[in-house]
Amino acid sequence: MVKAVLGFSKKTKEEKIQWLADTYLANDATAVSTLSQYWNSNPKLQKLHDDFIENTITNYYLPFGIAPNFLINDQLYTLPMVIEESSVVAAASNAAKFWLDKGGFKAEVISTIKNGQVHINYFGTSALILNFFSEVKALLIASISSIEENMKKRGGGLLEISLVNSSEKLEGYYQLHCTFETKDAMGANFINTCLEEIAKTFENLAKEHQAFKDSSSFPEIALSILSNYVPECLVRAKVECPVSQLSTSEIEGQLFADKFLRAIDIAKTEPRRAVTHNKGIMNGIDALVLATGNDFRAVEAGVHAYASKEGHYSSLTHATIEDGIFTFWIEIPLALGTVGGLTSLHPLVKFALSILQKPSAAQLMQIVAVAGLAQNFAAIRSLVTTGIQKGHMKMHLMNILNQMDANPSEKEKTVEHFKSHTITHSAVVDFVDQLR
Ligand code: MEV
Repeated sequence: MVKAVLGFSKKTKEEKIQWLADTYLANDATAVSTLSQYWNSNPKLQKLHDDFIENTITNYYLPFGIAPNFLINDQLYTLPMVIEESSVVAAASNAAKFWLDKGGFKAEVISTIKNGQVHINYFGTSALILNFFSEVKALLIASISSIEENMKKRGGGLLEISLVNSSEKLEGYYQLHCTFETKDAMGANFINTCLEEIAKTFENLAKEHQAFKDSSSFPEIALSILSNYVPECLVRAKVECPVSQLSTSEIEGQLFADKFLRAIDIAKTEPRRAVTHNKGIMNGIDALVLATGNDFRAVEAGVHAYASKEGHYSSLTHATIEDGIFTFWIEIPLALGTVGGLTSLHPLVKFALSILQKPSAAQLMQIVAVAGLAQNFAAIRSLVTTGIQKGHMKMHLMNILNQMDANPSEKEKTVEHFKSHTITHSAVVDFVDQLR
């Protein structure tokens, strides 16, 4: 039976790996060498990665690809994409090329307001806490003046603070709802530091306040944290063209547009489809969010909450055909940063931001929204014409061949054969077996 290990974080990397090998891998030397293969030969770079998290034992590679030809607001971009799924970069590139001669993508930031809350337990009379808040509001704001100093110089900082009475939803529940502008920073650390200071000041002032000394109840801080739901940090991206320009050798424009709109309507109606539809959008978004060192979990959580804003989970993209014009757009909340966090630490993140011509956070919001829209366009286009598997399996073929350790000649013959045959895992295995 495995015994709990104490003081693990204090062990050296080698000791941690040895413990792992002894405890779970029957001291398997190949497991240990697999880990060391992925260490970086540059000790400085390895140390940087070691220090990102606790108990690092090795690095985990994901492919870093690029998708060129994205015309966004009349500027050409090449998108850096970090993703393991075979067909995502190819799909992005196809969509970019499709829209290149049709005016490209147009994107605009609607607003950039972030938010966070100090959640409060208070079971007394609501008039008391509301009056108290009005009295101390200026002191709460003043308490973060030194924390805000640098952010203010950059044009950001706390925008507003209000006391929200949520006690009808949950007994004794109030919150200080705070809004922030964080400019090019994602702002999580800044917001959380401000909130914790505001919370401390609020509690200290409440402790000394006569109103609560006389009452039986006293406000207590439950927790203080930013919200990853950022519906006021919103971006929109769209593509538009005459329906006739949608015609390809595969399908006539009007038929394609009708099928496309039907696919969107299905995703708006049926949450089971909407989740997969939006997952495809996130294929593009996450790949860019990861490449640029942003927090994809925060983005995921916020985007999916937004997809439910009407009370049921629905499509993040929309399409219309009006006066012969096909319009397809996305509107999503995105809290992104191009300074702070990993952006100045991780060499590949710096590289990704350089490819994008060092965008502001607002520009990055637009580019990321476009990546989501493009990915969704490519997916729906396949789904309503050839089906998804044709393109997907074509890209996945190399994974199957690599799994089988195929040599270059086997790979070449297999790729050639499957240009005219349906790719399935077993068909590829049978074909390679026959070659051998
Ligand atoms: C696969 O990663 C993404 C798709 O399932 C998206 C969709 O169905 O719209 C193809």
